[in-house]
Amino acid sequence: MKLTNTQIQDLASNYKTPMYIYDKAVIEQNINTMKTLCTMQNIKINYATKANSNLHILKLIREHNMKVDCTGYGEYFINKRAGFEQSQIYVVANNLTFEEMKQLTDQNLVISVDSIDQLKLLNEVAPGYQKLMIRVNPTFGAGDNESIVTGGANHKFGIDIEDFEFCLKYIKDNTLKLIGLNNHVGSLNLDYTVMIRAVEELLAIVTEYQLHDLQIINFGGGFGIDYNHETNNKLDLESLKHQLNTIFTNFVSIYPNKEVSLEFEPGRFIVANSAILVGTVTTVKRRGKDIYIGTDLGFSQLVRPVMYNSYHHVEFITNNTMTRNCHVVGNMCESGDYICKDRKLIVPDVGDLVIVYDTGAYGYSMSSNFNNRLRPIELLTADDDVTIIRNRQTLDDLLIGY
Ligand code: LLP
Repeated sequence: MKLTNTQIQDLASNYKTPMYIYDKAVIEQNINTMKTLCTMQNIKINYATKANSNLHILKLIREHNMKVDCTGYGEYFINKRAGFEQSQIYVVANNLTFEEMKQLTDQNLVISVDSIDQLKLLNEVAPGYQKLMIRVNPTFGAGDNESIVTGGANHKFGIDIEDFEFCLKYIKDNTLKLIGLNNHVGSLNLDYTVMIRAVEELLAIVTEYQLHDLQIINFGGGFGIDYNHETNNKLDLESLKHQLNTIFTNFVSIYPNKEVSLEFEPGRFIVANSAILVGTVTTVKRRGKDIYIGTDLGFSQLVRPVMYNSYHHVEFITNNTMTRNCHVVGNMCESGDYICKDRKLIVPDVGDLVIVYDTGAYGYSMSSNFNNRLRPIELLTADDDVTIIRNRQTLDDLLIGY
C-alpha cells in the first residue's frame, strides 16, 4: 500500500519515531522484476541477506522460493529461523575464523572461499569438503563508491586469476569438490554494461579452465536503484535482460552440464525502495546562512549518508511552503551526523515528520546502538494491514551481556 501523509502521521503517533515502514507489495514486485530478468530455467535469483535480515522479510523471501546468500554463521542462523532449508542457504564469506568455518562446514552448506588461506582452512577443518565454490576477483571493479566496489586491485575480496591454477591443483590434490564459481564487481551499479562484463569474464574463466561439471556459476548482486528521485538515473534492466539472455543461451548451448545454475544474489534491488525511515523534526536552527534541521534520525538509525556520502530522497510532512538549502542532521554526538547536506527542501517546523526514502537495504541492518540510542521499530504494511515486524529496542536491550 502506498501510504498517504495522513497514514504516516497516524503510524507515527501510534508507534513513535524513528520507525522503518516497509511495503510488502514493493518487495514482491521487486522479486518479480528480478525473476523475469531471464526466461531460461537455468537462471536463479537469490537474496543477499546482508541487505536486510529482518526475520519477517526473510520469511517473505522464503515464500518466493529463493535461496539466500549468507556472509557467516549469524546470517545462517537467522535464515534457519526464517524456515529456509539447508539446501537454500549458502555462504559467500571472507576471513572466517577456524571456529566459524567449522560451524558452517558442520552444516554442510555450499561455501564460497575467497583466498588461498581460506581454502586451506576449509580443507583443514573439513578435509575433502564437497561443496566448495571459489570467488574469483574480477579484473575490474564497479559500484557507487570506493567502499562498495569489490572487483579489481584495490580491495580485499576474491582470488586473483593468477592464483586460480594453484587453487585448482590444491582442490584436486586434496580431493575437495569444486561445485561453483562466483564473483561480484561491486554494489549499486547503474551501468548495466559493467554487470555484463563481469558475467562474461566469469564465463570465460569457466571455459578457459574447462570446468565442465560446475553446478553453480554466481555473479553476485549489485543491481542499482535510483536513490535520487529527481535525476531518474535507472539501471537499464531491459538491455541487461536482453544481453543476458543471449549470453546465457549461448553459454548453456555449449556447456556440458545443462543443469548448471546461473545465479544472481541481489540485496539492495529487492528491498531498498520498499521502506521509508520516518523521524521527527526536533530543531530548526539558523546559523549564519545555514539552516540545520535537527531530527531523531542519527547515524545509529541510518548510516549510509555518513559512511558513503550516499544520497537518499528526503521530504517533510509539513504545512510550510518556503524552500531553502538545508542540512538535515541527526541526534548523534558528532558533527558528521547528517542525512543530507545543503539540499533545497521545504523548511519544516519542529514536530513535523521527516521521511527518508529507499531505506529498506542496508538501513536497519547497519544500525547500531551508538550513543546508547535504541534501534527503531520496523513495520510492514500489506493491503490494509500494518504489522510490527520488530519492536523498538528497550533500555533492557542495552544491558544485554552484562
Ligand atoms: N553478493 C556479494 C558477494 C556481495 O558482496 C554483495 C554486497 C551482494 C551480493 C549484494 O549486493 P547488492 O545487490 O545489495 O548491491 N552497505 C553498502 C552495500 C554493501 C554491499 C556489500 N556487498 C550500502 O549501503 O550501499
